[in-house]
Amino acid sequence: MNATPDSLRQAAAWVRNARKPVVFTGAGVSAESGIPTFRDAGGLWSKFPPEQFATWRGLMGVALRQPRRLADFIVALLEPVAAAKPNAGHRAIAELGRCKTVTVITQNVDGLHQEAGSDDVWEVHGSLLQIVDRQGRRVRCLSRDDLKAVMDAVRSAGEMSQPRRAIWSAMQPMFGVQAGKLHRPTIVLFGESMAEPDWSNALDAVRDCDCLIAVGTSGVVYPAAALPSDAQAAGAKVITIDPTQPGWGLWLRGTAAEVLPEIVKAMVDSGPSPRGGGGA
Ligand code: OAD
Repeated sequence: MNATPDSLRQAAAWVRNARKPVVFTGAGVSAESGIPTFRDAGGLWSKFPPEQFATWRGLMGVALRQPRRLADFIVALLEPVAAAKPNAGHRAIAELGRCKTVTVITQNVDGLHQEAGSDDVWEVHGSLLQIVDRQGRRVRCLSRDDLKAVMDAVRSAGEMSQPRRAIWSAMQPMFGVQAGKLHRPTIVLFGESMAEPDWSNALDAVRDCDCLIAVGTSGVVYPAAALPSDAQAAGAKVITIDPTQPGWGLWLRGTAAEVLPEIVKAMVDSGPSPRGGGGA
């Protein structure tokens, strides 16, 4: 961690004095839970180009022409999420929510903020764990064990001599048809609308916030990437936590699991929050 003690103290003071802080997270917050990011070296998009694997049209093309490649992608996507546990960064954000009223806005689809204990979480790119029908009605909520079962079944299907039908059938708990109705996870692919009502709620929280902490996001995918600069333009203090990207406002250079617990510790050490917004 290269964040200086002064910058940590400054960040802790901003968060401590904030009435309505927002934590905005990207793939980097889950990297230390074993889930690769998208754009770092070895990231998901370096092995599976997003033009093919992040759009429905691209995915349908892969399913038709290279079903084994689709199976490889599904395994690469699900395996780390199925095995993941919240790390010290997720836990520090949840701890912050016990000291103050904190809104978490995440681009991640892994459910780790909720598992760490954060309550107010808006998943603006949806979730791999929430399965809905075409009208957006909840069909089921998957556990990490369910994800692992789908991943194992897809992996075996990909090894068959005629894999296409077997892969489709293995994916049924996530993507498929049941009682004549199509269902899918709420994840947002490129070209789709943002997940609702999460996106509208996220915009409201950013409009209202006086301090925003951006953690582990490259800030290249819009409209979510505009949130930190929107907050900054509206006068909020903005802090970026990232090992390599300076991002917005005050940069605390380091990983989520290193820096976030230090901010919470510095806040707790400096005594009770001076203004409202306190949690339990
Ligand atoms: P990226 O992969 O684009 O960026 C990850 C960021 O995390 C980079 O800035 C890294 O430097 C940083 N990082 C890496 N390890 C870290 C760690 N241990 N602690 C803190 N930061 C770390 O991921 P996102 O910005 O989340 O959308 O990507 C945004 C969107 O692009 C995703 O939601 C997804 C993707 O395409 C869709 O698929 C719609």
